[in-house]
Amino acid sequence: MTKEEKYKSLLPQVQGLLSGEPDSLANMANLAALLHQEMGFWWTGFYRVEGEELILGPFQGPIACTRIAYGRGVCGTAWKEKRTVVVPDVEQFPGHIACSAASRSEIVVPVWHKNKITAVLDIDSKELGTFDETDKQYLEKMAGLVYGPQKDIWFAAGCFWGAQKFFKRIDGVDFTEVGFANGVYTDTTGHAECVHVRYNPDIVSLNKLTELFFKVIDPLSLNKQASSRSLTL
Ligand code: SME
Repeated sequence: MTKEEKYKSLLPQVQGLLSGEPDSLANMANLAALLHQEMGFWWTGFYRVEGEELILGPFQGPIACTRIAYGRGVCGTAWKEKRTVVVPDVEQFPGHIACSAASRSEIVVPVWHKNKITAVLDIDSKELGTFDETDKQYLEKMAGLVYGPQKDIWFAAGCFWGAQKFFKRIDGVDFTEVGFANGVYTDTTGHAECVHVRYNPDIVSLNKLTELFFKVIDPLSLNKQASSRSLTL
């Protein structure tokens, strides 16, 4: 089984395991256990955001340091830079915090809830170069599930910054990011600006999101950014 196949078969298990339990700490504990057991990682766990630092949460593996300051180590960097950090060789990462001498590579994934990072999922491997884009994609998806169900939708809009700002304000939206649809933008490829919205379908429906989208985007207008009319949600 390839790594992608393993993650693909794990995803519905994670959804099943976490759905129905509203307590995020309990869900972090079960997600750490499931990933650790099924993927064979060396250390799998969460650090929770508490004020200006990260505090150790549910984990599987050897004992670990309990507090990490904002911007420190791989975990603090992922939190500060608001992005997943993949470290192929921990010795090459300046400021890496070595909780276990056996760790050789690492991935840290922010956990987003209501447009804020509330924790990070940290995974260590005893081998070099264990983590890549596949781990990033699946672990980002799984990490958000500790707060309830999540779905994804991509809206192509005139200006992705504007659309992102708009979607961030909607209750039920947990995470947004911007990019170009289906490829890298150049003047010749013309890929559309796009905003990725991850939302809790129990709080806001796709119909509602789409309806709101069409309040600010006129699909029949050409080469215009948003109009100047204001909108009250
Ligand atoms: N290596 C992490 C510290 C946590 S342990 O890996 C469990 C870091 O540099 O932030």
